[in-house]
This record gives sequence, structure tokens and C-alpha cells, in this order.
Amino acid sequence: MINKNPIGLFDSGIGGTSIWKEVNSLLPNENTIYLADSKNAPYGLKTKEEIIELCYKNTEFLLEQNCKIIIVACNTATTNAIKELRSKYKIPFIGIEPAIKPAALQSKTHTIGILATKGTLNSELFHKSVENHPDVKIIEQIGHGLVQLIENGDIDSPEMEELLKSYLNPMIEKNIDYLVLGCSHYPYLIPQIKKIIPPHIKIIDSGEAVAKQTQKIMEQNHLLNSSKEKGSQIFYTNSEPEVLQTILNHKEKVVYKNF
Ligand code: DGL
Repeated sequence: MINKNPIGLFDSGIGGTSIWKEVNSLLPNENTIYLADSKNAPYGLKTKEEIIELCYKNTEFLLEQNCKIIIVACNTATTNAIKELRSKYKIPFIGIEPAIKPAALQSKTHTIGILATKGTLNSELFHKSVENHPDVKIIEQIGHGLVQLIENGDIDSPEMEELLKSYLNPMIEKNIDYLVLGCSHYPYLIPQIKKIIPPHIKIIDSGEAVAKQTQKIMEQNHLLNSSKEKGSQIFYTNSEPEVLQTILNHKEKVVYKNF
């Protein structure tokens, strides 16, 4: 079956491209449309109601482009709004949640760290996933300021290094052996994080798992594009395209749109 309609993805900004990269590498023949709502970043400091409204806006835009499935490439949006999205719209939604489960199951020190936004760590969905692992100590840390620095293209800045050290050093002292990156922006910080944490601490994010889940749900719903041609990729942003373009190595088409 050839379903050429695109896969839609959205995030509060450029971070969800870390998810898009995994999806595109697993399903290269699919057309995709990515929405960077950078104008409204960060979502992590907004109320649940505000996040739900932004998710509706992003979804309507992607539905106008005939998307057949939507990946909410943002932990904050998923943990606050996925239930509402699934009940309001008919198409399937794939969410992204912090990978607490694999980290908790594999931890030898029974202590894991999670770095995520305030919106994710305060969400009901996140609390539920923590309750499933009563034997593991979970050190929660809000990544204040990290999304803003990434959105400004300041990944390799002294401010970033200072912030990361102040968030990670207390976790290292508490003997974590897994660090969960609970925000789709944070995989772009892995080189900086590795300079701070000792090598035995493993870093986990959810990108690959989300891509596999997307493939599975598309198979089940007969949505896969069996064409052998490489898919087309479009990126929309409602802010300056420069940072998004840089993070994509200037290889993809980025379009400014006021949505
Ligand atoms: N990429 C978003 C996430 O995964 C960032 C949230 C924000 O904009 O604060 O949570």
C-alpha cells in the first residue's frame, strides 16, 4: 500500500528534530512535516491549559497538510496534552515520555537521574511512571534555562557549561548510574554532558523507541508508505530559521511561517 500523506511532528522548537532524525533514519521513504513552535518556547513554564491550546493549534496546522499520524516530539506537550489530543482528533498520536522504565530496570545503584522541564516533572503522567518504580531512587532536576539557550544557538557557551554542572554534579554525588534526558532538546547537549559526568553513567533518551513505536502503529493502521523513493522533508518555524537550519546541518528545507 502506498500512503504518501506525511507524518507530522511538532515541538516547542528545534529540539524535536532529535526525534525526527530517528524517524527519518528508520523510515526514509516517508514524507514528513516538522513544526517548530519556537515563538512559543519554552512550553515547560506554561500552564497545562496553555500547553493543550498550543498543541491544538499545532495539530490543526498539520491536519491542514493532510498528515496521517502525528508525533508529539516534546515531552512537555506529551505529558500534559496527549490525552486531550487523542480524544479530540481521529488520527493516531505518538507521544514521547522520559525513559524512566529502561533506566530504572537496568540501574545497579538503584539511583537514576532525570533532567526535564518543570512542565514534564510536575505532570500527572510523569508522577504515574515514577510510582511504578518504588525500589529506585529518582533524582529529579528541572533544566531551568537549557531550552532557551538551545533555541538561541548557545549550546557550546560558558553559560550552558555552568548550568549543566550545577544540575549534574549533585546527581553524580548521589551515585546515579543512569541519566534520563526527559526533553527532546537535550540530546543536543550530549557532548557537553559527557564532559561533566564520569563515563560509567549511561545517558538514555527516547528517540529510537519513539521511531520504533511510530513504525509499529503505522503498520497496525496500514499507514506505511511502501514507495521505494526517498521521502520529502519540510520544516516550518515561526521564528528565525537560522538555528533550525544549523541544527539540521543546512541539509533540509526550512520555511518561515507565521502559525
Ligand atoms: N522539547 C521540549 C520537551 O521535550 C521542550 C519543552 C519546552 O519548550 O520547555 O519537553
